[in-house]
Amino acid sequence: MSARRDRVSRRDFMKTAAAAGAAFGSFAILGATARGAGTTLKVGLIGCGGRGSGAIGQHLAAAKVLNDKLGLGLRMEVVGAADYFEDRIKRVAAKYKLPPNRRFDGPNGYKRLLELKPDIIVTATPPLFRPVHFEASVKAGCHVFMEKPVAVDPPGCRRVIEAGELAKTKGLMVVAGTQRRHTKSYINTHAALVGEKALGQLYGGRVSWCGGHAFNREPVHAKTVDDFVRSWKVWIGLSGDHIVEQHVHNIDVANWFVGRHPLTAAGIGGRARRPAGNMYDFFSIDFDYGAGIHVHSMCRQVSGCWRWVGQEFVFEKGRTDGTRRTDTRGRIEPEKSPIPPDLPQVRAGHAQEHVNMLYYLAKGEIRYNEARNVAESTAAAVMGRTACYTGKLIRWDEMMENPTKNPELYNLAMRPTAEDFETGDVQIPKEGVAPIPGKKA
Ligand SMILES: NC(=O)c1ccc[n+]([C@@H]2O[C@H](COP(=O)([O-])OP(=O)(O)OC[C@H]3O[C@@H](n4cnc5c(N)ncnc54)[C@H](O)[C@@H]3O)[C@@H](O)[C@H]2O)c1
Repeated sequence: MSARRDRVSRRDFMKTAAAAGAAFGSFAILGATARGAGTTLKVGLIGCGGRGSGAIGQHLAAAKVLNDKLGLGLRMEVVGAADYFEDRIKRVAAKYKLPPNRRFDGPNGYKRLLELKPDIIVTATPPLFRPVHFEASVKAGCHVFMEKPVAVDPPGCRRVIEAGELAKTKGLMVVAGTQRRHTKSYINTHAALVGEKALGQLYGGRVSWCGGHAFNREPVHAKTVDDFVRSWKVWIGLSGDHIVEQHVHNIDVANWFVGRHPLTAAGIGGRARRPAGNMYDFFSIDFDYGAGIHVHSMCRQVSGCWRWVGQEFVFEKGRTDGTRRTDTRGRIEPEKSPIPPDLPQVRAGHAQEHVNMLYYLAKGEIRYNEARNVAESTAAAVMGRTACYTGKLIRWDEMMENPTKNPELYNLAMRPTAEDFETGDVQIPKEGVAPIPGKKA
């Protein structure tokens, strides 16, 4: 962009910003965002696959919604994209007219993207890489939108929590792709039932992501690291297993409605029909949240079986699926909704996340730092998974809080690590060899 055009844009932008009025604090955060300079917000994408390309589109669409509905005059520019594979960047690069020097491939590509000093990073890579990418983005001073889940093991979850704390000290916004926490029906139901206790005390619940077969239908026979990364969804070390990668959504709702993470997990699971990778294809877990509250979690990726994706919580005076009462089928509205009346609502939760992020950024309010919430939901899923893999009762404090009580569990890191990909030291695990309960810790 030429200096002249930039000056014009800035003048136009400030005019629109002034018109938007005091509610948006003259775009304090954009002014405070050193590199945004109050004109154009620079966005970088790490992970250009299905969700990454969708999320960056939704991010830009969110700015348009805010501009159209509130006249904010937000200007967005996709400044660069990183992906492990060059071919995965092409579609995004073509759409956002990124020249070759703004496309960064390989396991270290994200570092070169961060050198462009984006204001915002949108990231949707396999979950193993999230802690490293998130931490680097925060250290580089970026606001972050990151997809769930945010790690595959306890050290990764703790690393995200720590980077989230760093983001707080740097005044950076962190939004996670948990969807439901950004969806109006869930937010209002949560406000009514948890905030205002409209149905009394919570007794317990159940959460489920039971669906048909997903991912590779044949063994992968991964011979190269590239084969391994391309088929990431079927490998425990890269995806965290489907309880972490997919069912984390419902476990996140459980943590949110109970108001804390579970204290222990005990469960059963196995690999009945999955041909590829090394993951299980079903899990069934009892999460004990303390004070007598239990949530039963189930997830399965096997075709021809009963399906249910959702959650149900039982309160003293009724039940909810998170969006309405399931005993009367009625909507539950809080006396006071936490959603500002002028915050535009769009249909899909995963699009609303971006509207919410940019709305509060424009307001100059660091409303969201979702690192801890999403890391704890990820850790709960890891805890459930570990209970099933080992056949043991897994305790949160041993896994997440106390390094000396059960060091093996506390330090349970998936191999290869994210850094191993950067240094090229990657051992591909044996396909079809899944954990056997009762055998190892
Ligand atoms: N919230 C939601 O609605 C939702 C929906 C789908 C996926 N997701 C999440 O988004 C993430 C990505 O899923 P997807 O379906 O887009 O997968 P995908 O395979 O389509 O995309 C992942 C991309 O990351 C790239 N990648 C792999 N390792 C990388 C690295 N080290 N550095 C940079 N790029 C790397 C891959 O090459 C690929 O292009 C996952 O965490 C998934 O759980 C969330």
